[in-house]
Amino acid sequence: MNEKVIVALDLRGYDEILTLVDKLEEAIWFKVGAVNFTAYGTKLIKELKKRNKKVFLDLKYHDIPNTVKESVYAANELRIDMLTIHSIGGIEMMIAAQEAVKDFEIKHNEKGAQILAVTVLTSMNDENLKRDMFINMNVEEAVLKLANNALKAGISGLVASAKETKLIRENFGDYFTIVTPGIRPAWASKNDQKRVVTPKDAIEFGSNYIVIGRPIYNADNPQEAFDKIRKELNHANS
Ligand code: C5P
Repeated sequence: MNEKVIVALDLRGYDEILTLVDKLEEAIWFKVGAVNFTAYGTKLIKELKKRNKKVFLDLKYHDIPNTVKESVYAANELRIDMLTIHSIGGIEMMIAAQEAVKDFEIKHNEKGAQILAVTVLTSMNDENLKRDMFINMNVEEAVLKLANNALKAGISGLVASAKETKLIRENFGDYFTIVTPGIRPAWASKNDQKRVVTPKDAIEFGSNYIVIGRPIYNADNPQEAFDKIRKELNHANS
């Protein structure tokens, strides 16, 4: 079940990151987000690929279609395996992102990255949608409408909280690959996450991958923490 756990590399320090990656020998997936891509850029991605790791590049692209297309193409050239875009950027933007993957696949004759669309950030509530984005619907309705736009654009993956995962599965069946953050094993601290579920529950709600950062990299023994999570997942599916 280690292929379902994506370790978020949000810790500080280039050497510290690579030391963690080397300790987590069994881990397959690592997430690099805006913080450490800004700090260490393509150098970090190349180190992960050198170690045969799968990389989830979480930069949540949101721009005019052509800029997103070229960014997605450039990300594919790094041989990353998954990346994120904002569905709120529109259907044309999502189609352009998907075209970039196709262009890469034709040019190199190899499989490109899977694109995941972000719907509504979990930091936004109904009031934020109305006040900041002038959207007059609740978060759940907006999530479903944005997921539908992603589907129309040919995007096959979504980032979703555990609660949204249930909703998406009820409305779209198994169509989307779903990646879920906000995961906390029962033995770990919640940190600043407010709505958390356990790894086992997330998978049972229908997530394909779970993203976990601090419970692993802040643990006294990260390998042991990773292993415990993996065992919990094995148990969920047995
Ligand atoms: O350390 P922790 O397990 O809370 O890390 C979760 C990771 O998932 C972080 O990289 C965070 O930015 C990301 N994330 C999240 N909630 C979202 C979207 C992304 O926690 N709604």
